[in-house]
Amino acid sequence: MEITEYVLNKKETLKNKVALLPVKPCLCIISVGQNNPASESYVKGKVKDAAEIGCEANRVVVDESISEEALLDLIREKNNDPKINGIIVQLPVPKHIREEAITATIDPKKDVDGFSPISKLAPCTPKGIIDYLTDEGFDFKGKNAVVLGRSNIVGRPIAKMLLDRSANVTVLHSKTSEEDRHFYLSHADLIIVAIGKEAFLDDTYDLKDSAWVVDVGINRGADGKLHGDCLPGLKVAKQTPVPKGVGLLTRIALMENLLEAAK
Ligand code: GUN
Repeated sequence: MEITEYVLNKKETLKNKVALLPVKPCLCIISVGQNNPASESYVKGKVKDAAEIGCEANRVVVDESISEEALLDLIREKNNDPKINGIIVQLPVPKHIREEAITATIDPKKDVDGFSPISKLAPCTPKGIIDYLTDEGFDFKGKNAVVLGRSNIVGRPIAKMLLDRSANVTVLHSKTSEEDRHFYLSHADLIIVAIGKEAFLDDTYDLKDSAWVVDVGINRGADGKLHGDCLPGLKVAKQTPVPKGVGLLTRIALMENLLEAAK
């Protein structure tokens, strides 16, 4: 199923679930500044999704010059607000604020991004991808999964989730040699590309015809349009599009985490 249709179905299910709840789940989105166009577009998407499934989304914008301690105090205030079920601080934040301090301060029960190691909720992008692949009938057991990128938000957590599903997992990164990258990718049944470089995975790789490629990249190209980390139209069995691919899966996973947190 196309991702757009899959997400529409999921939204319908979520909307029906929310309608049965005694109180509307409430998401609090904290933005530090409003100067990052990508963040602005992500936040607008999250607010729209929440409204569409019948949840409340309160956005709080603070000035970029806010001190780390003042931001952490604001998070603590939201932690203690019983009306709020989920809290996200949109990343990236200015350099004088540590992301680890934010993650450590958000109440794990309200950590709908799933960034805290003690949160019961899975990080949204890996969760969205795994749920979709599972729905599409991908059988992870014994398959060669190659993850390109080792970020805390995508590469590392999805590698663990794939391993938990008994895939043979290889994580490649900026220090992997080109020769090794070609070697591992030519054996891959599933390729997750999350490195943030336009058209990094291209037709110079000898990929399996049966491979599935998941493109996590969102890069603003020289043409001003959004491009993934993969060249479109690779000769593989399945390739997720950009835009209208993993971004939509991430957003729906966030709404599922919000409902879970509200329970
Ligand atoms: N910035 C880019 N992706 C994300 C995300 O999933 N959560 C948050 N909080 N910030 C982001």
